[in-house]
Amino acid sequence: MSNSHSGTPQPLSARRAGALTGTVTLPGDKSISHRAMIFGLLSIGETMVTGLLEGDDVLRTADACRALCAQVDRLGEGHWRVRGVGIGGLRSPKKVLDFGNAGTGSRLMMGVVGAHDITATFDGDASLRKRPMRRILDPLVQMGVTVVAQAEGGRCPITLKGTPDPLPITYQTPVASAQIKSAILLAGLNSPGRTTIIEAEASRDHTEKMLRYFGADVTVTHEGHDGRRIVLQGRPELKTRPIIVPGDPSSAAFPMVAALIVPGSDVTIIGVMMNPLRTGLLTTLREMGADITEINRRIEGGEDVADLRVRYSSLKGVDVPAARAPSMIDEYPVLAVAAAFAKGETRMRGLQELRVKESDRLQAVADGLAEAGVRHAIDGDDLIVTGGAGDVRGGGMVATHLDHRIAMSFLVMGMASDKPMNVDDERMIATSFPAFTRLMRDLGAQFA
Ligand code: S3P
Repeated sequence: MSNSHSGTPQPLSARRAGALTGTVTLPGDKSISHRAMIFGLLSIGETMVTGLLEGDDVLRTADACRALCAQVDRLGEGHWRVRGVGIGGLRSPKKVLDFGNAGTGSRLMMGVVGAHDITATFDGDASLRKRPMRRILDPLVQMGVTVVAQAEGGRCPITLKGTPDPLPITYQTPVASAQIKSAILLAGLNSPGRTTIIEAEASRDHTEKMLRYFGADVTVTHEGHDGRRIVLQGRPELKTRPIIVPGDPSSAAFPMVAALIVPGSDVTIIGVMMNPLRTGLLTTLREMGADITEINRRIEGGEDVADLRVRYSSLKGVDVPAARAPSMIDEYPVLAVAAAFAKGETRMRGLQELRVKESDRLQAVADGLAEAGVRHAIDGDDLIVTGGAGDVRGGGMVATHLDHRIAMSFLVMGMASDKPMNVDDERMIATSFPAFTRLMRDLGAQFA
């Protein structure tokens, strides 16, 4: 397996580029790619996957599936076959499940392991070891899982002893998190009753959709203003189905913002998943005045997909409501870059969850903006960026803290700032978007 977590940091610099032109074909969605592996593991027979994201995070999940007794084979680029063992069929892994940088893989797999009569240890890199896991452990313990060992504060390395008969629970998630919801649903698959999750704000719904696609009985009803009640009937027999992974809107965000801020650009991004629980950035950029047109809207692999034509635009600052955060949670670092080039103030509200991502993203973004000479402030859980109306000084070295999205965001900034932007380590980009530098160079990016 490629390993982006060892060896020495590799700095990279982006300097101002001429107009970006051409097309970008996106890598597969990371959320769906993790789930494709896991659903393959939990169904009996062959699950064929096309368009899988072959980023380090997903490869770690594939490796964990192997350790739990699935046969996982790469048949060609993005084309994978998983021979699963079915719900209840997992065996204790002989080695530590090392998820590297992957919060999603580790958290979803905790739900899977928790619902089996097996013991497994979860670990990862320095970033994953800092991330809060109590939000997953608490509901799993209610379902009957034993936390055999954990590092201080409920962090990795964590050893779980699962239960073959998880209790069906009703759980209100404390934060809008698809990872919490998914871990409980995956554990609920092996529960003899109904598992109910209530979320005050809807988070991405890929797990619910895939459960239904594989034949499980799941009902989703609206609850409150923008919430959901999800009810899963346990112990279905999942039927293997082919999975086509649509392009990742969170990766699309980088060429999209680059095209908006580099004068004269005209870029088409092919195959962007348009699931409404993932398109908050698009809504926000359009409010800022972005010229983005949808071409060829279609359905692929059960998801809405479109190609997006993005042209350089003079952007204006906007107020981004906290309620939009779940639908663009991974896109705030690159939105902050767009805001730096906009005219006026952009206020991004309710960003508390950014503090527990691959890095403390709120602080990492603020520090990067400071390096680049962009006016900004953190006000409670809000980030305020005062844009330079197309003019950003740039310069400086951005600390990426093992965070792929911090690295990509500030490289995008350097494509339009006066002075080059330098990031201290580009290796983590491989976790979610291994082709990033190549694809951006094809559009005209100047990285060195
Ligand atoms: C993800 C959910 C989000 C997101 C992450 C992927 C998923 O995390 O930030 O990159 O695939 O379920 P939270 O559930 O913690 O918000």
